[in-house]
Amino acid sequence: MAMPIAVLVSGGGSNLQSIIDRIEAGALDAEIKVVVSNREDAYGLTRARNHNIPTRVLLHTDFDSRESFDEELVRVLRESGVNGAGAVVMAGFMRIVTPVFLEPFRGRVINIHPALLPSFPGVHGQDDAAEYGVKISGCTVHFVDEQMDHGPVIVQAAVPCQPGEDGDELGARILKLEHRIYPQALQWLAEGRLETRGRIVHLKPGERKLADASASDMGVETQALVWPPLEEGF
Ligand code: GAR
Repeated sequence: MAMPIAVLVSGGGSNLQSIIDRIEAGALDAEIKVVVSNREDAYGLTRARNHNIPTRVLLHTDFDSRESFDEELVRVLRESGVNGAGAVVMAGFMRIVTPVFLEPFRGRVINIHPALLPSFPGVHGQDDAAEYGVKISGCTVHFVDEQMDHGPVIVQAAVPCQPGEDGDELGARILKLEHRIYPQALQWLAEGRLETRGRIVHLKPGERKLADASASDMGVETQALVWPPLEEGF
């Protein structure tokens, strides 16, 4: 059975789109039961509707605490058919979550961040890395815990930073890799291949061959390092 997932968005939803595309291509064995946004104008909602995926808007201004927002979020996810066997996928969802939300889905909530954690957490990871002048940055998919951009790391992709590049340019190159590592991480979860001991996530061996790193669509990503490596279909 396809892994039931909910995708939480606040903005453009390009990561949501990459997940939809990998599902439709038959590489990612998951079904998006609902897309939830905390902003009415999030383009991610339009992307979901274009693919007939149910959507819900939860405005944080309608709630008097983080906990009451999270309670409603849990209710919406359960009502949509996402449970402890599924996954909650934060894709540009700009909110700090509380234990009220994490407890029912412990070990099944995943986030993507546009920097190599633990460097440059927060909402401007790409800008912060560019301004700091690091020579390598990238993106991280990780399990979510109570602290922001902090839980156990599943996969990271590193890209070289170009001289003079600003946060937008760096971010655009990182985003291309986000679109590859996020669906891959979800597929590993769907296959039951992720085992977390303390902070360390182990990837159990699988059946799939590794992706062909020389594939023509790598483009600007040819100098990227992805670890663990991407498998066929991603
Ligand atoms: C992505 O770059 C994601 O990594 C980032 O927001 C963007 C959302 O883009 N998330 C964070 O910064 C979380 N701290 P998208 O809406 O096009 O997927």
